[in-house]
Amino acid sequence: MENTSPFRMAFGTMQFGGRADVAASAAMFDACLGAGVTHFDTACGYNDGASEEILGRLVAAQNTQLYIATKVGYVGGGGRANMTAQFDGSRRRLGMDAVDLLYLHRYDPETPLEETIETFADFQSRGLIAQIGLSNFPAWAVMKAQGVAQRMGTKIDAIQPMYNLVKRQAEVEILPMAADQGIAVYSYSPLGGGLLTGKYAAGGGGRLAEDPRYNARYAAPAAHKAAAGLAQLAHEVGIDAATLAVAWVMARGVCPIISARDAGQLAPSLAALNCTLSPDLMARITALSTTPPPATDRTEEA
Ligand SMILES: NC(=O)c1ccc[n+]([C@@H]2O[C@H](COP(=O)([O-])OP(=O)(O)OC[C@H]3O[C@@H](n4cnc5c(N)ncnc54)[C@H](OP(=O)(O)O)[C@@H]3O)[C@@H](O)[C@H]2O)c1
Repeated sequence: MENTSPFRMAFGTMQFGGRADVAASAAMFDACLGAGVTHFDTACGYNDGASEEILGRLVAAQNTQLYIATKVGYVGGGGRANMTAQFDGSRRRLGMDAVDLLYLHRYDPETPLEETIETFADFQSRGLIAQIGLSNFPAWAVMKAQGVAQRMGTKIDAIQPMYNLVKRQAEVEILPMAADQGIAVYSYSPLGGGLLTGKYAAGGGGRLAEDPRYNARYAAPAAHKAAAGLAQLAHEVGIDAATLAVAWVMARGVCPIISARDAGQLAPSLAALNCTLSPDLMARITALSTTPPPATDRTEEA
């Protein structure tokens, strides 16, 4: 599939002000700029706003033209009052009048999409956001939102689903929809929260051991088996497993949002920018996990 986004790679600042202190955050920011990564992703809720504050200060202290995305509504939903209050807070912490992309962080079944999209359209017409994004939305809800947006004279520009070698649900409906609609896909967790580095197979620790949500998300034995297989393959070909995992997402036509807790961890993910997977290696990596069944049945007849 073609990459529908103008970026090959983005960097996520979810660790800024959390597992990454100010110095580690700055080192990762600099490493991204050095590698040519200019799209930075944050959210109003990351580390109680510290992520936006640190990112805002780093952006202000340099001269490169950057693309800044943030998110609202993980808590409190996609209603006008909540989106407005949270986005005001984001702009204040970032020290920015406007951002390039604003997402609703997750689908809100309680609020009519008309209200959410009208709020986005209002921000856009006031020059507060350039583009509209939806994260953690099912494909049908993105299409419903797209219809509403078009009636209001705007459009959904980007989506942010989870996508990695062991979380491939997006292949069924979300990625084909985005390709059809020309919607940019910025996918999160290319390393499965760290699982695909191979460190758990080697007896190491990290987010999956520390955070019960991630532990539950990646608990399936098949996911751990795939990660161990990727580590073995990485050893065989002499390329870091993290590099292979990120390069695999890129080769599927998706712009990954990479992340780490320090610059040392980040290096193998950034290295994916210079890693072209041969068709044979691509096929071997893809075969480590199950390809999800298509959206429509009758596969027996193919
Ligand atoms: N829209 C959403 O709902 C949503 C959800 C999640 C993330 N995101 C965005 O996507 C970005 C990336 O997501 P993610 O952090 O889940 O990505 P990820 O690449 O799957 O996981 C990154 C984590 O893996 C571990 N890691 C990375 N490189 C490593 C290495 N070389 N060796 C060992 N461990 C390594 C680190 O965690 P430990 O060291 O702690 O193990 C690191 O924080 C976030 O920053 C955020 O911007 C969005």
